[in-house]
Amino acid sequence: MTGVSLSAAAQENDFRTGEILLAQAAGYDPMRPAMPLPGASPRPEGNPEFDGLIDGPGAEDTFYMCSACHSIALVKQQRLSDARWDYLWTWMIEDQGMADPGEELRETILDYLKEHYSSER
Ligand code: HEC
Repeated sequence: MTGVSLSAAAQENDFRTGEILLAQAAGYDPMRPAMPLPGASPRPEGNPEFDGLIDGPGAEDTFYMCSACHSIALVKQQRLSDARWDYLWTWMIEDQGMADPGEELRETILDYLKEHYSSER
């Protein structure tokens, strides 16, 4: 290699390092895993009274309704589309024997799930 190409390579290197530092300063960390690590909490800690469900209108109803048969972890770990939550509600009633709590609670709980555990927002 000639001295010229060496220094061009060094400049290129400096430039790239600078780019990465700028990106990091903007909040992008290239070393951050794309997926949450196992055991890492992907979402803010929820209310311990409701087994960690995120606080908000409907959290309490969701807790009592959905913890009757299985762990709330099964609910919290989901990121489903709105349509999938609708489907799951019907599936829980028709195939899993969940008591139908009526239209009002359906709306409250599904609104809550879609607000906090949706893949769409
Ligand atoms: C009557 C009992 C019952 C109630 C009440 C109930 N579930 Fe379930 N749920 C089940 C059963 C049974 C399964 C299947 C568990 C398995 O994977 O073997 C399940 C599975 C699930 C799954 C996982 C589905 C999947 O694709 O793996 C989710 C999410 C879920 N329930 C959410 C809810 C929510 C939200 C509520 C409250 C609105 C709720 N459940 C209430 C019985 C119930």
